[in-house]
Amino acid sequence: MFAPEIYRQRRATLAASLPDSLILLLGNVDSPMNYTDNIFPFIQDSNFRYYFGLNEPGLAGLIDTANDSITLFGNEAEVADIVWTGPQPSLSERAATAGVTQSQPYTQLKQRLATAQAAGIQVQYLAPYRGETILELAHLLGCDSGLVKAGFSTALTLQVVAQREIKSADEIKEMETVLAITRDVHHAAMRASQANVLEHQVVGLMEGIVRSHDLQLAYPSIFSRNGEVLHNHHHHQKLQKGDLVLNDTGATSSGGYASDITRTIPVGGKFSPRQRELYDTVLAMQTEAIAALKPGFTYLAAHKLAAKVMVESMTKLDFFNGNADDVVESGAYAIAFPHGLGHQIGLDVHDMESLGENLVGYGDGVERSKLFGMGYLRLGKPLKAGMVITVEPGIYFIPALIATWKAEGRHSDMINYAKFEEYQDFGGIRIEDNVLITTTGSRILGPHIARSAAEVEAIMAAV
Ligand code: GLY
Ligand code: MN
Ligand code: MN
Repeated sequence: MFAPEIYRQRRATLAASLPDSLILLLGNVDSPMNYTDNIFPFIQDSNFRYYFGLNEPGLAGLIDTANDSITLFGNEAEVADIVWTGPQPSLSERAATAGVTQSQPYTQLKQRLATAQAAGIQVQYLAPYRGETILELAHLLGCDSGLVKAGFSTALTLQVVAQREIKSADEIKEMETVLAITRDVHHAAMRASQANVLEHQVVGLMEGIVRSHDLQLAYPSIFSRNGEVLHNHHHHQKLQKGDLVLNDTGATSSGGYASDITRTIPVGGKFSPRQRELYDTVLAMQTEAIAALKPGFTYLAAHKLAAKVMVESMTKLDFFNGNADDVVESGAYAIAFPHGLGHQIGLDVHDMESLGENLVGYGDGVERSKLFGMGYLRLGKPLKAGMVITVEPGIYFIPALIATWKAEGRHSDMINYAKFEEYQDFGGIRIEDNVLITTTGSRILGPHIARSAAEVEAIMAAV
């Protein structure tokens, strides 16, 4: 948690932008695995955490900008709780760490909101993403749970996005600290990715390193020799010499900031010539995209640039035909790169996505593409200094996609299907880093993580 003054300032900025408003920010509650007392590790709501810092369940913040008052609602631990949890700070002590001077029992929140509603004041809240939050908002606001989601405040959402998307020096420091642990995780995984090792053995090793720092993963690891399956959370296979294994893993900092790093590892320690030419293509996609980043440049343009670098390289290798810009603009390129170049990252690995992907990632003159592939780009709008984004190009050979497009004759003038079919068993390659937009360009955050083919091979050779 940062100093109370940071939270005070964040709330003051929010309040100044939304005069005469009553803003409700609900924290998360514990989430049961299979019965009430057996819970998943607690994850705080990131918006609540951004403005109040507190990382405990069952809290709510009410910001009344008309009356210049801020109240933290929560429950005091009673002796029956303390028996199970040990002594807890009082609610007012917890409020003080967030720079809040007023606190009230949680049971008073509903009445406080009802009084405001009776006076014709509309309660502003952010789009909920958990079932229990939807039900709680319905209860607190006295409305139908089916209507809660649509009732979020766009004005509040846009202000929260404007604040959260510009990271402060303190936030950057925290993100770089956790990237040092993620670096260790990735280098350990490279060393462990030997023939006949089971995927889950490497996943266990990585999670152990993260847990040994008393941290959690920022998202379930993707570690698979089937890297072409984009959200592959299965770890059952045995690694075989000659495989490529895709490792997308990142730890969360103690303050809740995510890291999101992908590396692709040649099992056995050496990329084959066929793997190497496509690995170097993905690296060039990433390097050229990062070099182009600066305030005002749209992330949609960065995505298209990476796609063009890929098409130019893969045209030389006989995968595509024709003009590279046409292959990109038509969407034909997405047969090999069907996801977006990246997204914002911060307290959430896909930062602020719960607030609505288009409200967070588009606007300022940029609309989301309707094309397959390009349409999965979560961030398209112009970049600003202080944003932190991922840059994560990839090349994948997805047999079902190749077969379906070929059968449809899709882009058959631009795609050499016979060549793609020769690579059906290739898997996938992705390289992902976390990048800060500076006033003049960009900077890859954190310590260097072996990235080039030679660097990855060198780490693997040092077992
Ligand atoms: N790890 C999720 C992503 O790269 O977007
Ligand atoms: Mn990732
Ligand atoms: Mn990512």
